[in-house]
Amino acid sequence: MAVSSFNCQACRWSSSPSSTLAPRARVSVARANTVAVSSKKRGFELRAVAEATATGTAMEAVELKKGIAELYDESSGLWEDLWGDHMHHGFYDPNAADVSVLDHRAAQTRMIDEVLRFAGISEKSPIRNDKRVVDVGCGIGGSSRYLSSKYGANCKGITLSPVQAQRANALAAAQGLANKASFQVADALAQPFPDGQFDLVWSMESGEHMPDKAKFVDELVRVAAPGATIILVTWCHRDLGASERSLQPDEKKLLDKICSAFYLPAWCSTADYLKLFESYSLEDIKAEDWSPYVAPFWPAVIRSALTFKGFFSLLRTGTKTIRGALAMPLMIRGFKKDLIKYSVITCRKPEETTV
Ligand SMILES: C[S@@+](CC[C@H](N)C(=O)[O-])C[C@H]1O[C@@H](n2cnc3c(N)ncnc32)[C@H](O)[C@@H]1O
Repeated sequence: MAVSSFNCQACRWSSSPSSTLAPRARVSVARANTVAVSSKKRGFELRAVAEATATGTAMEAVELKKGIAELYDESSGLWEDLWGDHMHHGFYDPNAADVSVLDHRAAQTRMIDEVLRFAGISEKSPIRNDKRVVDVGCGIGGSSRYLSSKYGANCKGITLSPVQAQRANALAAAQGLANKASFQVADALAQPFPDGQFDLVWSMESGEHMPDKAKFVDELVRVAAPGATIILVTWCHRDLGASERSLQPDEKKLLDKICSAFYLPAWCSTADYLKLFESYSLEDIKAEDWSPYVAPFWPAVIRSALTFKGFFSLLRTGTKTIRGALAMPLMIRGFKKDLIKYSVITCRKPEETTV
């Protein structure tokens, strides 16, 4: 399995002059593709490139991981109180107005169903009993428990947050799903699973935290079993135009502010992700922009934070959570400017694969 040399040098998660992968990231993506495709032949040389490009970002990667773990350790209880099991956008009918809290929770589970449908896994062709699922960046395990209880899937979730892993296991036990869904602290960029373990590789809104998108995709592909479906739902920046080498300065500035608040490294575009997936022998690679379907989400999150309960709970959490809350309007601005895209990407690993 190829280990690519893609590293985010254009944007450090903390305070970089640029928070987009372009233009250097575009170079990196191209290089990552080359690595993934030809590493068997040129393994030694490419490993050297990987080491060289990794040097200097190791510290940031460690700090980023620590920050992500602390952010979710701190904020997950409050989120669960206000929003329940799922830490991801809801799927709404476009132009839906005045939706209640219950509608928002339904929209979050609808998101899971819509994503499965997009990937060709509908209730007519259900995830068969005991299908093995890895939930990469699992939060408190909402997706896994949903997939276990609705489809009988066997789910293993990984998160950087010890608090989330513990809570996810406790909720699974409380719902009688302990034998179906289990959770542990582990890094998506070095998953603690052997190759080819899972029939469904599921990553719901964790990809935006990954500082090395090529390594991230590489791991998603590696743990997928022959015939497995891979699903990646993630925040991207808009695709660049043919004549563009990078995002506009005001766009970079906006993404930088969001990165600092939410512990995100450089963003990439959907096209960048597609290039990464296309560098493997995968089938049915497809992507859609679902930004119009998630539009009511952030205004609703802000409204929930401004309720009496939300506001005082927020004050009791910690600085990371408060900083994140203050950055929420920036997400709305990013979507409205067509800068931020809600990307749904799926593909299948061939039954017999040489990936
Ligand atoms: C926005 S939450 C989404 C949680 C969950 N997928 C859901 O939809 O409810 C992002 C999750 O990604 C996880 N995450 C971020 N970077 C990670 C990494 N390198 N390895 C494993 N998990 C990671 C966080 O710990 C957190 O659980």
